[in-house]
Amino acid sequence: MRMKVIRALTNKMAAASLLAGMVVFWWPHEGRASEAGVGVEPSELSAASIARGKAIFTNGKGDSVTACQTCHGATGWGMDAMGAPRLANIGYPYVVKQLSDLASGKRVPSGAGAVMVVYAAGLTEQDRRDVAAYVSTLDGPPDFSDLNALKAAGTPIGQPYLGQEIVTYGVLGKVSACSSCHGYNGRGAAPLFPRIGQQKYVYLINQLKNWRDQSRANDPYAMMRAMAKNLTDADIENVATFLTMAPPTTVGNHQIPITTQ
Ligand code: HEC
Ligand code: HEC
Repeated sequence: MRMKVIRALTNKMAAASLLAGMVVFWWPHEGRASEAGVGVEPSELSAASIARGKAIFTNGKGDSVTACQTCHGATGWGMDAMGAPRLANIGYPYVVKQLSDLASGKRVPSGAGAVMVVYAAGLTEQDRRDVAAYVSTLDGPPDFSDLNALKAAGTPIGQPYLGQEIVTYGVLGKVSACSSCHGYNGRGAAPLFPRIGQQKYVYLINQLKNWRDQSRANDPYAMMRAMAKNLTDADIENVATFLTMAPPTTVGNHQIPITTQ
């Protein structure tokens, strides 16, 4: 009888401590996961996952998913001619979220990006994590937008110093400083806020206009729609001109903190 009570007690204690362990183990990940609906499990960025993602990025998958590098570039730095964004190291949880938003119809791009819906839906959830893991490892030398060529082709280009003011200080009473969410010079703040510094020019312009006309509406708490609605065309051009080449390092410090995982 006594043995039974003791055994029952120890079982209960074991269960309780197991539960406590699980809470401790999961708590920080749940915390990170909250708003974006995705979090980073360190195991997801494993060598195996990265290798599977590389295969998809380089070769595509089956008949319906074209190789990502066709439009996003072999080094993942995007392509202005396609309006395709840089994916290289912009934020692992952010890329996973975008792929699932694209697959579920929460984000519906227009133009050349409309096919993204088909590609994202043609990937399994694990594929999406794998390809996001792979692009997070791509951090080669920058391949910036060629603003002179864009200008020569008739694309309006802004004034970087005016854009820097909005990124750093915002527009009084109307727009918060972009850096208050996206970090210094838009270098990112995972899991919610993607790296927007050194993003492709055409893509930056398109996204800010899409939020302004609400055709992109997958931002948590409508944060970006609230920002974009008070930006003029000139503001958008100025901000994009600054951000597209904004250095991620501060004066006298060449370290870039990890802001994308
Ligand atoms: C035919 C060209 C093309 C191909 C191939 C392509 N993409 Fe895209 N992708 C685009 C364009 C254009 C956009 C921008 C959509 C928009 O304007 O909203 C985009 C957007 C994205 C985004 C959103 C990024 C962000 O910063 O929010 C992700 C993630 C993405 N693509 C991943 C992929 C992956 C993974 C593959 C391969 C499985 C792939 N793309 C293949 C053209 C392409
Ligand atoms: C209140 C916080 C907040 C502020 C301030 C903010 N953003 Fe954002 N931004 C977000 C969030 C959240 C997302 C991610 C949306 C999603 O999950 O699709 C985002 C995404 C973006 C993207 C899309 C990146 C991509 O790869 O598709 C761009 C571009 C962007 N923001 C530009 C700006 C600019 C420019 C400013 C300043 C004028 C700014 N943001 C200020 C919260 C903010």
